[in-house]
Amino acid sequence: MLEVKDINLYYGAAQALRGVSINAQPGKVTCVLGRNGVGKTSLLRALVGQYPIASGSITFEGADITTLRPYERARRGIGFVPQGREIFPLLTVEENLRTGFAPLKRDDRNIPDDVFSLFPVLQSMLGRRGGDLSGGQQQQLAIGRALVMRPKLLLLDEPTEGIQPSIIKDIGRAISYLRNLGNIAIVLVEQYLDFACELGDYFAVMDRGAVKFSCDRSNLDATEISRQMAL
Ligand SMILES: Nc1ncnc2c1ncn2[C@@H]1O[C@H](COP(=O)(O)OP(=O)(O)OP(=O)(O)O)[C@@H](O)[C@H]1O
Ligand SMILES: [Mg+2]
Repeated sequence: MLEVKDINLYYGAAQALRGVSINAQPGKVTCVLGRNGVGKTSLLRALVGQYPIASGSITFEGADITTLRPYERARRGIGFVPQGREIFPLLTVEENLRTGFAPLKRDDRNIPDDVFSLFPVLQSMLGRRGGDLSGGQQQQLAIGRALVMRPKLLLLDEPTEGIQPSIIKDIGRAISYLRNLGNIAIVLVEQYLDFACELGDYFAVMDRGAVKFSCDRSNLDATEISRQMAL
């Protein structure tokens, strides 16, 4: 349902994506792996429309969305959990969640129960300011905010980065629950290989802006992925 074909992206003269192609399917997790600075976030920016691509195409549910603006992509059901979480520190947890309503029609503006069953801490902290939450709680809030719009495609940029192990487990459970719903496609950008291997159906390792190795769950070789990431 998401097909990314041969995309190139430049920051001025510097090329950040070189002919990247990936796919995502409902009920499956596509993992994008790679060291710092290889272009993982740039790929997600291209998918959500935060930064224009120079060439290539992005097809979502059969429609070419390559030139659509970010809010139009959100309206079609593309949800994004950005690297570094980007919580509004002065807004309460509830207000942060409600910012996820933006792409929804007025009648659809309610917070799904899943958000609180996946992350009970958000329910108990609804009135607290985003900035008062721990890093792990903020990550849960960022995922909750993306779920508020009931995405068909969920993009997560390094959700385990700087997070304590117990909350990484909660986040892993949440991603696994969302995958098992069967109707959401997930693209998970990670550097934490063990986490990705537990959840992933497809794997793409990036280096210097390009996908240099890929495999799927049936022929997953974590050692080889690890070697590719280290090269
Ligand atoms: N706005 C920008 N302007 C210019 N160069 C940029 C910009 N954003 C990223 N880059 C460069 O593009 C390359 C890819 O960056 P990107 O953020 O996509 O990597 P990444 O794989 O997400 O890294 P990390 O794991 O550290 O988050 C890097 O060389 C980075 O310095
Ligand atoms: Mg990044």
